[in-house]
Formats: sequence, structure tokens, C-alpha cells
Amino acid sequence: MAPMSNEAMGKKKVVIINGPNLNLTGLREPEIYGKTGFQEYIGILKQKFTDTEIVYFQSNSEGAIIDELHKYGFDTNIGIVLNAGAYSHYSIAIADAIRAITVPVIEVHLSNIYSREEYRHNSVTAPACKGIIAGFGMQGYELAIRAIIND
Ligand code: DQA
Repeated sequence: MAPMSNEAMGKKKVVIINGPNLNLTGLREPEIYGKTGFQEYIGILKQKFTDTEIVYFQSNSEGAIIDELHKYGFDTNIGIVLNAGAYSHYSIAIADAIRAITVPVIEVHLSNIYSREEYRHNSVTAPACKGIIAGFGMQGYELAIRAIIND
């Protein structure tokens, strides 16, 4: 017998999309971004949310992030958690992609972008998102997943 799809089981899917330089989290400016890497943290999230399918994707390229948004953007029973890194501050193309899809997107930043350099204060992608979580480090991803599950 074919295995039941997540949708048939009512299982929610969360796709985490990380943008440029976030592959270096744990090594990169740990005083700002923390000492934990995503490899480790995604494992922790999967253990915490056993009823949720968690998919992780990271790319340093704008187009690859857009392709990933398109790939999952029209699915049902799914939410996207996006940290577009520095692209958040200037990528109209990513903002357009978020607006083009129907799946809700929650923007996450590890750091509090509003307490940092002025050029980080504006996110052009945030207005296209359902909500934004910033300044709670890795915990921000957990909060975003909870928001998707409880929706
Ligand atoms: C970041 C904040 C951005 O300003 C920065 O360019 C990043 C990471 C964060 O998670 O705090 O790469 O998105």
C-alpha cells in the first residue's frame, strides 16, 4: 500500500529557507548570530516538532531562493519561514516572489535588525510577509514554526 501523504494525515509542513551567509552561522560573528550552526539546530527542531515535516534549504543566491519560494508556494497545509539575510534589505525580486505565492511566509532574523546599522532597519521583504520575528536568535525559527502550526 502506498504511504499516506502528509496532507492526508493532516501533518503540516514547514519549509525553512535561509539566504546568504547563514550557512556560516555558528562561525560567523558569533557575538551577533550565536554559536549554534543550522545543521545542529535543524536536528533540534525536528526532535521538537515530530508532528511537523521540516524541510531545510539554504542558498547564497537570490534566484535559488526565489525558485524555492515558487516550488512550495502553492502547496496546502504548509508554511514558509524565510531569513533572506542581507537580501531582506534590498531584494524587490524576493519581495515580489513572496507576493506571487499563496503560502504564508514568516520572516525571521537572528539579530534585532532595528538595533543595528541603519541600512538594516528596513526590510523590503517584510511587508510581503505574514509576520516578522527578529532578535531572538535561533529561537525565532521555533516561534515561527509555532505560529504556522497554530494558524
Ligand atoms: C540577518 C540580518 C541581516 O541584516 C544580515 O545581513 C544577515 C542575517 C539576521 O538573521 O539577523 O545576513 O538576516
